[in-house]
Parts: sequence; structure tokens; C-alpha cells
Amino acid sequence: MNEASTPHSINSAASASQSIVHTPTIIKTQDLRKVYRTGFWLKAAPPSLKQCSLEIYRGETFGLLGPNGAGKTTLLKLLLGIIRPTAGEASLMGQPAGDSATKARIGYLPENPYFYDYLTGWEFLNYTAGLFGLSGKTKNRRIADLLDLVQLDRHSATKKQMRRYSKGMLQRVGMAQALINDPEIVFLDEPMSGLDPTGRFQVREIILSLKEQGKTLFFNSHVLSDVEMICDRIAILDKGEIVCMGAIDKLLGNPAYYRVKGRGGSLDILDRWLRDITFEGGFWQGTLYENPFEFMATARLMNATVTKLAVAKPTLEEFFMAQIQQQRAIATQAEAENRIAAKPSKRRRLLGKLSA
Ligand SMILES: Nc1ncnc2c1ncn2[C@@H]1O[C@H](COP(=O)(O)OP(=O)(O)OP(=O)(O)O)[C@@H](O)[C@H]1O
Ligand SMILES: [Mg+2]
Repeated sequence: MNEASTPHSINSAASASQSIVHTPTIIKTQDLRKVYRTGFWLKAAPPSLKQCSLEIYRGETFGLLGPNGAGKTTLLKLLLGIIRPTAGEASLMGQPAGDSATKARIGYLPENPYFYDYLTGWEFLNYTAGLFGLSGKTKNRRIADLLDLVQLDRHSATKKQMRRYSKGMLQRVGMAQALINDPEIVFLDEPMSGLDPTGRFQVREIILSLKEQGKTLFFNSHVLSDVEMICDRIAILDKGEIVCMGAIDKLLGNPAYYRVKGRGGSLDILDRWLRDITFEGGFWQGTLYENPFEFMATARLMNATVTKLAVAKPTLEEFFMAQIQQQRAIATQAEAENRIAAKPSKRRRLLGKLSA
């Protein structure tokens, strides 16, 4: 796994003296593994999560990305204590995952929340607030504040039964429900799912306001542009394995590449240095992955004039696709090698028959 960040951040004000501020770990997993057993004979399925080790620091916004079936919801459920691991450990705020006192300090928006069709949004929130021991004026105040925060219209919340809510309205009730106990850690499984651009913007704003309040946010999402805007760190999960983890800036900046434009020089040499070369109006243009100083020196030697050399970073989406493709290519190669190793050679088969 490619770990691009360290478990600490360097305080910029104190960076002259290189003093390091350690942020406490709030979520930790160690070699977490989950194998579901299904069917009448409880047959083991391929692992949904393999040796997952990660640390999340207090106050950070952490995004877990991955294709469908990667194991994101499984990891979230293990952290919440909804399902039990096959092996490994997970802890929240220093307590084992599933600890009941800790559960009172966390909030959770499930991927596919179930709502009571015949309750209004207010009645549902009233019920969940009761589960956390809120009552009287405090409870009403809290529900009203949360409805404002998630921008759910008061009239709909008090008069309309939830079976008449749109997907976006239900998602907002779900978000309010996740925050009813003023949690320290908020787990959100696909919080942007089913929301229109305005709704997604509002969820981003809510997440940022929670972040400002010092809450720790752990969420799964497929909307990479949103993740890029709000997360401090991310992890990419594929087929149950964390393929990379780190601060978005560091992950996207490594490796950085350059867009280069110029004229003159030798096509043969340019071809060795640049990728995706195009020609237009007497200029060539291409992408440089090598050292730019060395390229400039080569350009001088071949009498080329470089008119533009700009750093280009991949977007999170490009980075994500590259990581998944790389992981799949490694897996395919390993599979092919295993197949070759497992298959006895013609010579060995012949020797086997002769000795039998
Ligand atoms: N209760 C279950 N019983 C058996 N297998 C399960 C169960 N829940 C999940 N799985 C399997 O575990 C794997 C990971 O599923 P999971 O729901 O964690 O993926 P995900 O990354 O959240 O996917 P998505 O992006 O579609 O929500 C999948 O192969 C899925 O079929
Ligand atoms: Mg999921």
C-alpha cells in the first residue's frame, strides 16, 4: 500500500523549528478482515475485506473510495460494530468497535436507510432523539436546528408522512438523524447519493460546518469531485484491499507531470522525452514525466525553443482510475503466474506417466 501521509502534521507556524503536532488517533483498525458466510451451508465467500489497517485522526475528514463491491460499506459496518470481523481489530476513541457507550457518541447515515413510511420527518427525529435520552425543550430545539441545517422545510417535516418524501428529502432526514446526538464521529455511507447538484452542495456545506466544529467525518462516496473538495485524506479500496491512502494533495502531486510546448528540435529526441505529442501551427506539444531541468538542457542541445512548461496534476478521478487499473493489472499478472506455476509442464506430466 502506498501511504502518502504520516500520522502527524507539521504546524506551519512552528515549522521553522520543525516541531511536530501529533493529532490523536480516533479510529484505528489492525489487520481487519471480513469473510461473509452465505447459504444453507454457510459457505465462505471470497474475503470482502483483507488485512485492512488504518488510522484516522481526530478532526479529520476522511473519504473512503472504491468501485462497487470494494468493501466500503463492510468496513463502515465493522467500525460501527454492526457486523463482526473474521479477524483483526477495530477501535473507536480507544474502545473496541461496537462498545455501547461509544455508540452514543457517534452518528451514522446508512447507505440505504429504512424510514418508517407513516411517520413524518419530525416524528421520526423525535423518536431517534428519544433513543439518545433527549427530551422536552432540548429535544425540540435540536430537531428544529437540524431541520434548518439540512434545509428540510418545516411544513413537510411536521405535516407530510415520509412515504411522500422525495429521495433527496429522505436523505436530508437521514442526515439530521445521524447528527441528532451531536456526535463526535460522523459516519456517512454515500451521503450525496440521490441528491441533485443543489442538494450535493448543501451536504458539502454541512460536512464543512461539522468539520469546523471539530468533528471527525468518515464517509464513503463515489462522487470524486466532492471528495476532492472536502476531504483531508482518502483511502482507495479495491476488492477488499486498501491500495493507497494519504492526503489528497500528496497523492495527486506524486508524480506530477508537465505540459510542454515549443518549436524546433529533433522529432526523434522529442519522442523519447514526451508522451502524446501533437503538432499545430509549427509548434509541438506533449506531456513530460521526466525531470524538467534535464529536459530543458536537452532542448537547448537540440536547438528547440520551449515556450511553455507547466505543472499538471491529475484530478482525483484520473488518479483513482489509474490506481484501480494498476491494481487490476497486478492482480491479473499474479493470477497468470500462479496458473503457470500450478500447471505441470508437458515434460513433468510425461515423467509422471512413465514412473506410474
Ligand atoms: N451481508 C452480506 N452477505 C454476503 N456478502 C456480502 C454481504 N454484504 C456485502 N457482501 C459482499 O461483500 C463485498 C463488499 O460489499 P460492500 O457492500 O462492502 O461494497 P461497497 O464497496 O460498499 O459497494 P457499493 O459501492 O456498491 O456500495 C461484495 O462482494 C458484496 O457482495
Ligand atoms: Mg456500499
